Amino acid sequence: MCGIVGVTGTPDAAEVLLEGLKRLEYRGYDSAGIALIRGDGQLVVKEKGKIKSLEGALVGEDLTGTTGIAHTRWATHGAPNRINAHPHRSGNVALVHNGIIENYAALKVQLGKKGHIFESDTDTEVLAHLVDDFYDGDLTLAVQRALGVVEGAFGIAVTHVAEPDLVVGARKGSPLVVGVGNGVNYLASDVAAIMGHTRQVIYLDDGEMVTLRPEGIQTMNINNEAVTKEIQEITWDLGQIQKGGYEHFMLKEIFEQPQTIRDSFRGRILPDQGDVKLGGIQLTDWELRNVRRIIILACGTSWHAGLVGEYLFEEYAHIPVEVEYASEFRYRNPIIEPGTLCLTISQSGETIDTLEAMREAKRKGAKVIGITNVVGSTIARETECGVYIHAGPEIGVASTKAFTSQVTILAMLTILLGRRGHLNADRGTQMLRELERIPDLVQKVLDQSEAIREIAKVYADHSNCLYLGRGVNFPIALEGALKLKEISYIHAEGYPAAEMKHGPIALIDPQMPVVVIATKDGSYDKIVGNVQEVRARDGKIISIVTEGDTEIAALSDHVITIPDTMNFWMPLLSVVPLQLLAYHIAVIRGEDVDQPRNLAKAVTVE
Ligand code: AGP
Repeated sequence: MCGIVGVTGTPDAAEVLLEGLKRLEYRGYDSAGIALIRGDGQLVVKEKGKIKSLEGALVGEDLTGTTGIAHTRWATHGAPNRINAHPHRSGNVALVHNGIIENYAALKVQLGKKGHIFESDTDTEVLAHLVDDFYDGDLTLAVQRALGVVEGAFGIAVTHVAEPDLVVGARKGSPLVVGVGNGVNYLASDVAAIMGHTRQVIYLDDGEMVTLRPEGIQTMNINNEAVTKEIQEITWDLGQIQKGGYEHFMLKEIFEQPQTIRDSFRGRILPDQGDVKLGGIQLTDWELRNVRRIIILACGTSWHAGLVGEYLFEEYAHIPVEVEYASEFRYRNPIIEPGTLCLTISQSGETIDTLEAMREAKRKGAKVIGITNVVGSTIARETECGVYIHAGPEIGVASTKAFTSQVTILAMLTILLGRRGHLNADRGTQMLRELERIPDLVQKVLDQSEAIREIAKVYADHSNCLYLGRGVNFPIALEGALKLKEISYIHAEGYPAAEMKHGPIALIDPQMPVVVIATKDGSYDKIVGNVQEVRARDGKIISIVTEGDTEIAALSDHVITIPDTMNFWMPLLSVVPLQLLAYHIAVIRGEDVDQPRNLAKAVTVE
């Protein structure tokens, strides 16, 4: 959601903090700020807008100082402006915060009575004042006392002028990672911020704190009991979070898909046996055979991947599936019967709705499998069984390569469960041999990027767009519509193609582009009928069809072809032209593709 960086022990502290913020900017980007402890006190500079604006505000400032904290913000309380930006200060305390302090209003009143004066509208400023109020010479203790009275979620970093070498961090519900260096130690909400400096990290768990000094770090819980943590090694490299010659991260990530899909299945398939092996699934064959129902919990694009999973599990593994919006699931009274397997899908592994839904499912006795991309993320650590999708860091806010990797994993899970039930070995072998071809087929779709850009030029100034698909391509229609609205701000809706005539057909006129995913499958003839219905009302048709198609092509204004494959794997191909279409339209409209307005990469607030 927002990004935190902290450092102690280097004369380049300001540089380290700004560089870290830039790497985190994709998480939140409506304002940013820095607090640096200097010989003469504490410099706090904040600015509305992106990190560039903050850098502008720092020109001419004396940036000497070896300890500091910094933040890039995605507003929850109070408008995105300079005053509401973090760090927030009270006396000699500076504090940055990700998350929400739920009882801030009551605390603000109490502190106000004691003479505290607030300048911002934020919950975070209240926490800074609370720490200051408790401070009597020991920052760690003051933070512990303050956290003892706040309700809500937090990842925080705090400094105090009187303890100039110290950064205190704490987490509950919002990630924090410690970077262990040599004479310099780091703190961040995301490992990307600090991995240019160290690859040795410690992931804090909920309820834990850390004190960082140049000479070392100490971990403890919020009750001040020492906690021993394992130092882990980061295995991916910095090059993976740079643009590598592409204009945007999103385009780079779309083009990485042949590789990322391969990385998702590499070493995990046994084509000769028609089976898969997923090391993180520590369930016995007996347990796998006795899965009676699957509940998939996710949000946004990950939820769309879950919907694809629903089609696959029911058709090929014969297991009933419900795909739930995590945010709704957690507040219902969901019924978890014996034999329920819960799949929690989250690229970031930090989405609070998904995390809480997963905790609720666990509480009620479901077996939970986490499907995440970010190693060491909270969901990954809180599930006893899990599968990393291995898509590599996804920086663009609009999720692309994570989606195809999630679908790849869900398909592999389908084979795993299917082979312990109704799916025979030959069929499994066929599916896995076909999977090995998929990366090359995805590349063939990517090769049409320029042609898709030409189509984008025609529709970039439209205000609405409808996406239609049937069967396993229905979730792809939803995903195509989400991509378009997220980054181009064009209103877009996805529908099952047959559902169009129950309402949305009223919208069809010559100004309404309709993207139809009509690959050759069992429902092809039906979708031909739906396309004719659009044609009859002069709607503009952009069709995604299988190579060699003539029937739908003849009815369409624009045609994008994708190679033929088994229906089972089709979503991995059919989503790609929709990602490219959304991308090109947004670029033509001049939008900030990687950092679309109002969005954040990891949504760690409700
Ligand atoms: C995708 O393009 C979105 N930015 C968003 O819908 C995202 O998929 C959703 O917030 C869930 O995120 P997660 O996968 O990290 O849990």
